[in-house]
Amino acid sequence: MLSSILPVVLGLVVSFAVAASGHGTSCTRTLGAGTASASSPFWLQSIKHQGISAYNPTPSSYNVFRNVKDFGAKGDGVTDDTAAINQAISSGSRCGQGTCGSSTITPAVVFFPSGTYVVSSPIIAYYYTQIIGDAKKPPTLLASSKFSGIAVIDADPYLSNGAQWYINQNNMFRSVRNFVIDLRQIPASTSGTGLHWQVSQATSLINIVVTMSTASRNNHQGIYMESGSGGFMGDLVFDGGKYGMWVGNQQFTVRNLTVNNANTAVFGNWDWGWTFQNININNCQVGFDLNTGSGAVGAEAIIDSTVKNTPIFIRTSTTSSSSSPRSLLLNNIKLTNVPIAIGVNGGATVLKGSTESTTIGTWGQGNIYSGTSGAAKFTQGSITAATKPSSLLDGSGKVFGRTHPQYETYAVSQFVSVRDEGAKGDGTTDDTAAITAIFAKYANCKIIFFDAGTYVVSSTITIPSGVKMVGEGWSVIAGKGTAFQDQANPKPVVKVGSVGSSGPVEITDMIFSTIGPAQGAIVVEWNVHESTQGSAGLWDSHIRIGGTAGTNAGVTGCTRTAEPSLDCAAAFMGLHLTPQSSGYFEGTWVWLADHDLDTMTTSEVRYSGRGILSESGGPTWLIGTASEHHTLYEYSLVGAQNHYMGHIQTESPYYQPTPAAPAPFTTNVAYSDPSYGSFQTSAWALFVKKSHDILIYGAGLYSFFQNYDQSCYSSQTCQAQIVDIDTGSQIQIYSLTTVGTTSQLSVSGKAVISSSKNLETTGQQSSFTFWAPSSSSSKRKRALKRHKMQRHPTDI
Ligand SMILES: *[C@@H]1O[C@H](CO)[C@@H](O)[C@H](O)[C@H]1NC(C)=O
Repeated sequence: MLSSILPVVLGLVVSFAVAASGHGTSCTRTLGAGTASASSPFWLQSIKHQGISAYNPTPSSYNVFRNVKDFGAKGDGVTDDTAAINQAISSGSRCGQGTCGSSTITPAVVFFPSGTYVVSSPIIAYYYTQIIGDAKKPPTLLASSKFSGIAVIDADPYLSNGAQWYINQNNMFRSVRNFVIDLRQIPASTSGTGLHWQVSQATSLINIVVTMSTASRNNHQGIYMESGSGGFMGDLVFDGGKYGMWVGNQQFTVRNLTVNNANTAVFGNWDWGWTFQNININNCQVGFDLNTGSGAVGAEAIIDSTVKNTPIFIRTSTTSSSSSPRSLLLNNIKLTNVPIAIGVNGGATVLKGSTESTTIGTWGQGNIYSGTSGAAKFTQGSITAATKPSSLLDGSGKVFGRTHPQYETYAVSQFVSVRDEGAKGDGTTDDTAAITAIFAKYANCKIIFFDAGTYVVSSTITIPSGVKMVGEGWSVIAGKGTAFQDQANPKPVVKVGSVGSSGPVEITDMIFSTIGPAQGAIVVEWNVHESTQGSAGLWDSHIRIGGTAGTNAGVTGCTRTAEPSLDCAAAFMGLHLTPQSSGYFEGTWVWLADHDLDTMTTSEVRYSGRGILSESGGPTWLIGTASEHHTLYEYSLVGAQNHYMGHIQTESPYYQPTPAAPAPFTTNVAYSDPSYGSFQTSAWALFVKKSHDILIYGAGLYSFFQNYDQSCYSSQTCQAQIVDIDTGSQIQIYSLTTVGTTSQLSVSGKAVISSSKNLETTGQQSSFTFWAPSSSSSKRKRALKRHKMQRHPTDI
């Protein structure tokens, strides 16, 4: 007990000492609204840039931040800025060219002041790059009439031999924000493309407009994506074009997309499962054109969307049948002048639309299930609508969404730099005291800027409610040392709020991590409850455990062939949402590394006990989140309420079942761990107990290996069970896909849904469209609901 109290007391003492020593200006006023003048540039342009890459061989000379104008870009709408922009991105021996698959030690934030930048060939988005335009006045990337290349922004260039710079499923850590990409000078007959976005986890596109040809025949497209394992994108507008987006990827979450005047808003070439939330399609010929042949699009969930003046909302290339369901889930879709809601190309109308206005409530195509019955009911029609808690919805009845805050109305004087305040971020100095002092001093009065770097902490850091903090190209806070080395007495590296606290907390562009060994680290413990809808959240921020320079220091002998040992453990848990908390999580990846990003090797092996445990009473949104390779489970909901989850993605650890879960960890009742035995030897992708009002729209839960051997995958035998829902929980699951597991869903430990009945593609993924508990537990649900309404009379 003493050891758990001591660091807190010490932290306080230190914070007073530092405050008294008079670092920086004292904080006299609360943050309030932004005070930037209309003419001033976005704060990111003006703030002092002193971020470092802590583990780069020469951190003192490596520049993380680059302003393209410092490299000669003019942004005058005339000069060809291609070479200058690419120089800004590539300088500093960065990772790419087909000779480097990934690296965390050459990060870059590439900033574009407002202006119009003419480009004639692709802007190459190197690995670990954030490309950010002025958020107050987004710059335009103007493709010249002579533009040649795959896209204006290219995240994975092709080499002349057909190989690519990066492996599509490992193409992580990218973000592009605040741009207008104008393709209209490219001849309409040419396949001018806004973004070649072939990416995987920890990637985002935010606030981008692509303006294309509106000729009735043209070959422009907003996004071209042939494969990958993403990812999140949101707040996008595509005007004109043949395709708003032409996409194929294992899984993706798209929130808030508008497509106007395209031939086809979204062409889906292949996937295992995508979730589209708040999609607005106007004046197109086809909304979603889906290649549904073998090996193509398996599952799509489209919710809270509007389609106007578009002859066909969804067109599939094949008919759906019980043996080839091509799962589709539609929920809350408003059609205006859309005569065909769903049709088969060259074939029958599956669902009529209307030349007037109509709303599709909840409509499913594919196999649906109920309770403990494993009998598939093939459906093409209305299915049970979810009961959505009002706390999860916005004023128009859609699932609430909130864009990554960028503070574009704030003046640079409203920010404070942690480096200016004495934190080092150099990957070795213990920054615990400095960071604690900064939060104590500036929580409610400045936006706290974590200059790029790796901030090592040796005891728990509390981010108090009121904090708004921004990283610079994914600044890292990493827990290290004896405080985090006892699995029987786990400790948070970072606590967000204290138990019972409420208020705003905004965290963007950060990574939370550990430096092993760290068997007792809870990387992030989330305690804060929102004070207004969506006020407590995490955007483009990740929990990354192992697998990068610096994280493996001092731990040896952890290999695939060695007996799994707690000495090789790098976390007890990734993210814990405690019972009184609520939170908005968008684009969060909770990753125990399966390979080393800096050496691109798999020789070093690490273990993390648990992925995400939510006991949150909500409202909690998990939008475009993923959790991978944790030993006991990837997502566990215990006593959780009022959650929206879509799309969620998991992978089981590759070594299981040798040894079987929970080894090398032991279960801990204080964290409501599931039990394991011969019935369950691998991680649960999703474990749900005593939880209610949980909505899942889109899940991709994968198990690719047995003891590092992939031969189990095409026979769905890498693990027996992957999702467990106890009989007491009330949860509605739409559009769930699995790979490599025999059963897709179990109830109280007993397998119910067999993946073989829902195989979309031979030897690959299985999808079902809906599962909910049987009606007897719905009665319990109604009783719970009544109880809740009595407690919260306004929450109807
Ligand atoms: C949706 O995106 C548009 C365009 O970026 C933006 O103006 C709007 O505020 C976004 N809406 C939501 C709910 O995020």
